[in-house]
Amino acid sequence: MQFQDILKNAESEGKEKHVPVIEIGKGKGEGGADIVHVVVGKETPHPNTVEHHIAWIEVFGMKQDGQVINLGRAAFAPAYTNPNVRFQVPVAEFKAFCALAYCNIHGVWENCLEA
Ligand SMILES: [Fe+2]
Repeated sequence: MQFQDILKNAESEGKEKHVPVIEIGKGKGEGGADIVHVVVGKETPHPNTVEHHIAWIEVFGMKQDGQVINLGRAAFAPAYTNPNVRFQVPVAEFKAFCALAYCNIHGVWENCLEA
């Protein structure tokens, strides 16, 4: 088994939407900073209860030279905070962004976006 075997993506998706959707907002942050926005359940909200929730989102970027940077991680309080997070990132330094999202029932979900 390899680590990638536990990662799920859009092909595994059921009626509850788990795939982390990544959006890049160049100049859309405070003071004109670039933003990487990640949300789970953009179209169909994922349940958000103690019993079933998105526990965290983690974001990685691949720089132009191939170096991978762990850009940040957000952990959520079930029933209180939604899996919807923005990171201020110098987007031009990266060629791609990838996100992981963890549902306590349905596992780890992945997605990537070319910058
Ligand atoms: Fe789930």
